Amino acid sequence: MLRKTLMNGAIAFAIVASAGAAQAQSAAADRPWMNTKLSADERAKLLDQALTEEERYGLLHGIMPLAFFPGAKIPEDAVPGAGYVPGVPRLGVPPLRETDASLGVSNPGGMRKGDTATALPSGLALAASWNADNAYAGGAVVGEEAAKKGFNVLLGGGLNLASDPRNGRNFEYLGEDPLLSGTLAGAAVRGTQEQKIVSTVKHFALNDQETGRNVVDAQIDEQGLRQGELLAFQFAIEKGKPGSVMCAYNKINGHHACDNDFLLNKVLKGDWAWPGWVMSDWGAVPGVSAAANGLDQQSGEQLDRQVWFDKPLKAAVSSGQIPQARIHDMAQRVLRSMFAVGLFDTPSRQGQPIDYAAGAKVSKTTAEQGVVLLKNDRGLLPMARTAKKIVVVGGYADLGVLSGGGSAQVITGTGNAASIPVGGESPLAMLANQVYHPSSPLKAIKAKAGKETTVRFADGRYPSEAAALAKDADVVVVFANQWMMESIDAGDLSLPQGQDGLIAAVAEANPNTVVVLQTGGPVLMPWLGKVGAVVEAWYSGVRGGEAIADVLFGDVNPSGRLPITFPASYDQLPNRQIPGFGYVGPSFTDPPEVAAEKMKSFAAPHPYGSDIGYRWYARKGFKPLFPFGHGLSYTSFKYGDLKVSGGDTVTASFDVTNTGPKAGVDVPQVYLTARSGAPELRLLGWSRVELAPGETKRVTVTADRRLLADFDVKARQWRVDAGTYDVAVGASSTALDAKASAKVKAGAIKP
Ligand code: BGC
Repeated sequence: MLRKTLMNGAIAFAIVASAGAAQAQSAAADRPWMNTKLSADERAKLLDQALTEEERYGLLHGIMPLAFFPGAKIPEDAVPGAGYVPGVPRLGVPPLRETDASLGVSNPGGMRKGDTATALPSGLALAASWNADNAYAGGAVVGEEAAKKGFNVLLGGGLNLASDPRNGRNFEYLGEDPLLSGTLAGAAVRGTQEQKIVSTVKHFALNDQETGRNVVDAQIDEQGLRQGELLAFQFAIEKGKPGSVMCAYNKINGHHACDNDFLLNKVLKGDWAWPGWVMSDWGAVPGVSAAANGLDQQSGEQLDRQVWFDKPLKAAVSSGQIPQARIHDMAQRVLRSMFAVGLFDTPSRQGQPIDYAAGAKVSKTTAEQGVVLLKNDRGLLPMARTAKKIVVVGGYADLGVLSGGGSAQVITGTGNAASIPVGGESPLAMLANQVYHPSSPLKAIKAKAGKETTVRFADGRYPSEAAALAKDADVVVVFANQWMMESIDAGDLSLPQGQDGLIAAVAEANPNTVVVLQTGGPVLMPWLGKVGAVVEAWYSGVRGGEAIADVLFGDVNPSGRLPITFPASYDQLPNRQIPGFGYVGPSFTDPPEVAAEKMKSFAAPHPYGSDIGYRWYARKGFKPLFPFGHGLSYTSFKYGDLKVSGGDTVTASFDVTNTGPKAGVDVPQVYLTARSGAPELRLLGWSRVELAPGETKRVTVTADRRLLADFDVKARQWRVDAGTYDVAVGASSTALDAKASAKVKAGAIKP
């Protein structure tokens, strides 16, 4: 009997197997693009040939699959999220299901009821870790969760350079330096795409302010653009190979970024030979001309004035305005990335269980490494577990940690610890909520404090009350928050809602005051001289409260370094006010003529070119409040024996020694400081070095030659001039102790 069953099983298996082989054979015959031996380009070409004209146009535009839009019909195979582009079931082309963003699978406004995801720390927190491994791991976490929620495109990889500390989206991005930003964004994209889902980099380019983002015209000369923002994107694209690039809302030198021949055709697809597809930002397409100027796909089409990439595009092809070959190119670029990343060859993972504990671990490591100890007088930190009384003040520290708002808003863990409506008239006002993730720093501090310690909390609404409670404490920890959100820039750099006054009052009552900042970017600190310590914790993600407590008590030795300069005053900023300050965009209820008036463009000059952040301070001789690269540790480090060799580029090697009493991680940074005597300041590289007390390690950093070069606009290439190049190693962009120089040969590098 048993034998018979086994036999039958074997026969059944043989029949199934041969049917499978036959199917595979027929699939290979009717679907030659499924042959994985062919290149992504070959497969895309074959598939494009099989598409009807209607199917081809279908790939070139998509909706936001949200019931929110009047008359919206949500396709059955869509997942509510940022975007949806229909597939072609007849030919096995999957739909594109798109979700935001770099900091986790977002769920702004709770559009997928009850759906939570791992919240990573903000982009600035990641950048402050100066650790590409964190970027890779975070990208993988978001990619995997997105895939398991049914998405196959992640709108991640945000990296506009922080040319103004008030930009409302700095928290999503990676700071002010092209190499640091590009390296981390590239690693994040790689992490995501290894999960077989496409990642973007965005917003290409110069979307560096939210004020009037749909109308602002960023004005910059080509050399400044190439050596700054574009270099950051170039590094990210080279390292991450994103399947898609999202073009930005703003104009650049008079042309919309999504309708920009120079940016999309000449630079991205021409000079960089990038083979993927350009998708628009949501509502960023000014017209059908965008197709000729390099845009391949119109996203979130309900937000544009028209669905340009359907009927109007067909008409433009019929009239000869746009060649038919370009339509094939557009479709092939979409398909090519889908093949290259693996969308056709990977079975759906939708519905598979998600290991949120693993995601939280990645998030916590990044948060720990991203915390920056800005100031620590008299060794106030780490806090002693033997303290009798610790007072915690403000910042909703009893509930959780702050997060940034907009399309990147993640709902994490057990759901929001609090969601406080902000109101206002911003274009995304309905999403304007200060969301706190459920990881309470107060709870974490209580859990770590000694048995004999009393931990008290004042909500901070009344400075006098907090000061009275703080008076006899051994140490006071004030949490101070600056909430930032997509579509709104910070009006100024103060801590809002009277928190500067609160800190001053508490510090007056007790100098053992530690300020923990949870900010979307730099803030001014009028109270700095009065407090003992300042910790920048940024937005710290799903386990942020615990990460902060670990640093405060010294279980984690801080190793974060600023990826963005903190100004000492408004006079140090290239623009005293953000260009267009006070601009209010049209609202849905405006009559057309009012809306049109409000859509008038204004200029945002970038006379500083690529001298963003620390380079600007160096050029102007300004002393910032805290420089780019700065961050303290509970131990101390020393650099020595710097050797710099030249030739085609420079290579610096040096010793790093832990001269203090504790194990710790240092982040020595290598800068170019002069070329043939002419001062410059450019980050060439860095290393994260883990050292036991007394231990020494040797570090070697080799510069990418473009960082030594100037972009020669006329010759359309990078040019390295022969000469003596001065290099320094330091603990920040202004603490440059070890210096040496080397001779570099002349050279040219393709654009
Ligand atoms: C944002 C993008 C985002 C898109 C889709 C836009 O408003 O600028 O970053 O990916 O919305 O949600």
